[in-house]
Amino acid sequence: MSETNAYRIAVIPGDGIGKEVIREGVRVLAYIAERARFGIAFDTFPWGCEYYLETGRMMAADGLDQIKHHDAIYFGAVGWKTVPDHISLWGLRLAITQGFDQWANIRPVKFLPGIKRVLNRPDLGDLEWVLIRENSEGEYGGFGGRNFSGRGAGKEIAVQSSVFTEEGCERIIRYAFDLAATRSRKKVTSATKSNAQQYGMVLWDEIFARVSKDYPQVETEQWLIDAMAARFVQKPESLEVVVGSNLFADILSDLGSALAGSLGLASSANLNPDRRFPSMFEPVHGSAPDIAGKGIANPIGTIGSGALMLRHLGREAEAIALERAIEDAVGQGALTPDVGGTFNTTQVTDAIIAQLDRHLPQ
Ligand code: NAI
Ligand code: MG
Repeated sequence: MSETNAYRIAVIPGDGIGKEVIREGVRVLAYIAERARFGIAFDTFPWGCEYYLETGRMMAADGLDQIKHHDAIYFGAVGWKTVPDHISLWGLRLAITQGFDQWANIRPVKFLPGIKRVLNRPDLGDLEWVLIRENSEGEYGGFGGRNFSGRGAGKEIAVQSSVFTEEGCERIIRYAFDLAATRSRKKVTSATKSNAQQYGMVLWDEIFARVSKDYPQVETEQWLIDAMAARFVQKPESLEVVVGSNLFADILSDLGSALAGSLGLASSANLNPDRRFPSMFEPVHGSAPDIAGKGIANPIGTIGSGALMLRHLGREAEAIALERAIEDAVGQGALTPDVGGTFNTTQVTDAIIAQLDRHLPQ
């Protein structure tokens, strides 16, 4: 084991199935590190809703300082019925993504072999497109307030403002174009609602048009978000790189992963591309209280996020090996109940690990 190759990963399992799937993800990464002979160390942080009930905080007061020197963050999911969702999400996940300026959220949508399709379209092959979500501002900028409850019952008001900055729009749109330029079909689709949202989203559209001029080799499209939701269902084969605001791309990513077969399959990376801070890797899904504790959560979204982490750490060969191992295991029927199988969480992970040796560089 070479010290120069030692990575330190901050692990935040969180709540519900977050704990069950992150355990498996760590197991896979540890196995890969051992086989590929690089060092990896995991520091686990007990932050989440139980921590909140004990301390009144979702994470330690100096939590960001505790993890800012790690090479990456591996995150399960946050949210439990004992704590209001807006407190748990803002107190942990959004505190990290915004505190570490993880402005690019990459969410690949992948149709894996062997998984029953939601769409009755035998002509569709194994599709793969990527959602690029603006992850630092927009509808999740956190600006607004509530007031006037003193006026009496039924009189309270709430204001929730979206914030679109030129800098924020430009960096995420440029990220989408840079990614599209590396793909065989070079195309970026932007989804907004600028007919109704005439300030922020018109600014977004204008920046999209301006940035697109720097990428003459990339085909572009600008769609309205409602029509885009229909297109995800009706013409997914026409999608390549799709860029959208914080809220819109969040919604589209659940739609995309449902189309691919289950929310449990979808991976994501919250990147600070400037590398001033660690990036965070997590499944798209939440804490799934309805299945928590049963040992049947699908670990693939989390394990696939581990592949995105390896790629970010410069371990491309290992990332590809892991992605292939997932495809093989799934193709051979290692499926949890959400995708029609009978395997439990641990058994799916074991099946993926069993495929790894074939793919890891020798
Ligand atoms: P959810 O993603 O937790 O669950 C939605 C549905 O998908 C459930 O029926 C669940 O059983 C199923 N599902 C999700 N992941 C699965 C997996 N790996 N394997 C099998 N089935 C899976 O979304 P929901 O129910 O809206 O939210 C539950 C809690 O999670 C809330 O407290 C919410 O705030 C939180 N949440 C946290 C997120 C995060 O930490 N990034 C993201 C989304 C929700
Ligand atoms: Mg979501």
